[in-house]
Amino acid sequence: MQAAFERYFSMPVDKRSDAAWMIRTLENDMRRLDLSLPDMSLFYFQLYWSICGNIKKGPFWMFCYMLFNPPLLSLIRQEAAPAISSERIDVNHLLNSCPRLNALWDETLRKTAFAASVRFVTEDVTLPNSSIILRKGNRIMMPQRQLHYNPQVFGENVAAFDAERFLRDPNIKSKGCYRPFGGGVTLCPGRHLAKVTTFTFIAIMVGKYNIKLEGGEEQQFPVPTEGNPSIGLVDVMPGTDVKVVLEKITGKEKN
Ligand code: HEM
Repeated sequence: MQAAFERYFSMPVDKRSDAAWMIRTLENDMRRLDLSLPDMSLFYFQLYWSICGNIKKGPFWMFCYMLFNPPLLSLIRQEAAPAISSERIDVNHLLNSCPRLNALWDETLRKTAFAASVRFVTEDVTLPNSSIILRKGNRIMMPQRQLHYNPQVFGENVAAFDAERFLRDPNIKSKGCYRPFGGGVTLCPGRHLAKVTTFTFIAIMVGKYNIKLEGGEEQQFPVPTEGNPSIGLVDVMPGTDVKVVLEKITGKEKN
């Protein structure tokens, strides 16, 4: 991937004029700062990973959970409506005055985060309150899935999607097991951007469109590719995608 990005950014600019605005702007800044081609490529690889591996899948799964639960969709629509009532999106409202939307985000990430944080052990470490020693020279993997399915933290219904789990117990996130964005010094720096863009997208979609499952709730809930390794949020099994009907809301009529 890195080599592919290096080849791409070595091409004359007029041969890649279809690039998105963000890609060109970042490139200009990086060239101004005299970044090497390998460093630039690594940076774009990280962006590619975030955009293709993670950020698009959050809203996808959130929509699935809402579409198969119309009362939830309705509640989220009501909550988010004030955020899109003027010309500008009120992100502050979405982040701070929409408890259900926030709980939906947290529960969706809990259910769909399939990556693992990986660390190289540089010196022997004894885990607190335990006799387990992590030996220097080894790598440790901390899979999110196992952390997020810990019944002692999340309750006996860990396998189920529960839109109210994080509403009922706001402290659940501080118990150390909720890690969709990893942790420590490499804690995902894009987590706020991911949340803001996802919330904005959801608010616009539910506020401006009637959105429902094509053919009603007879559709099968999309199957996550649980058996496949993932570098971010889980993918959907080919052939089990959702089909939706979107209608722009013109009057007061909302589903
Ligand atoms: C729902 C969306 C996202 C999820 C679930 C996610 C998840 C993660 C995870 C699990 C890590 C590894 C943390 C660790 O080492 O323990 C990570 C790292 C990272 N993420 Fe994200 N991410 C998301 C969106 C984004 C976005 C939108 C960006 C940037 C535009 C981004 C940029 C990064 C970067 C640069 C790192 C590496 C940090 C480092 O190594 O210091 N992420 N992300």
